[in-house]
Amino acid sequence: MRTDKVYVIGFMGAGKSSVARALGTRLGWRVQDIDELIESREHQSIATVFARNGEAYFRRIEHEVLCELVHERQLVVATGGGTFVGTDNRNIINKDGVSIWLDVSFDRVIDRLRSDTKRPLAADHTRMQTLFETRRTAYALADFRVDASLTSIDEQTEQILEWIRIETIRTSVSYTHLTLPPSDLV
Ligand code: S3P
Repeated sequence: MRTDKVYVIGFMGAGKSSVARALGTRLGWRVQDIDELIESREHQSIATVFARNGEAYFRRIEHEVLCELVHERQLVVATGGGTFVGTDNRNIINKDGVSIWLDVSFDRVIDRLRSDTKRPLAADHTRMQTLFETRRTAYALADFRVDASLTSIDEQTEQILEWIRIETIRTSVSYTHLTLPPSDLV
């Protein structure tokens, strides 16, 4: 597990960008936001990319942007709500760093996105609810889950930092001083 890179994943409105920024500050690491990188690369908003070029085009750019981040270490990445859903992206993320799922209730999402005009996939309530339900299976494949409905950004950040600390220690434990083969270390 490579704990020197953190991907924050989860549904639209979960608070991924805020938590990523807070983590970056606490860790002293750079923060990148996949949606922002897409917008600056395309010189247009996400909504315009969807409207002019369609979702398939958006997903291609999203995948390319993700691949470009793989070389950087000590980085926190705020993903888009759909980034972790595709198998290719998910494999890249889980191999490259740790994935943190901000699990938020649908009611919270509705509350937060009530007057949103920037997210094309949030325009239709029924479609959004279906996406919310079907995507949970993919999000559940993240390394760590945080309840993002009940806790503040600061509390979520501290929980994540504590988990990273434990994982860093756990995965750096060396058994080389033992004479037993790994199969006996149960
Ligand atoms: C999307 C979520 C958005 C953005 C795009 C598609 C999705 O990001 O990437 O509108 O598929 O859920 P946020 O999760 O940051 O809103």
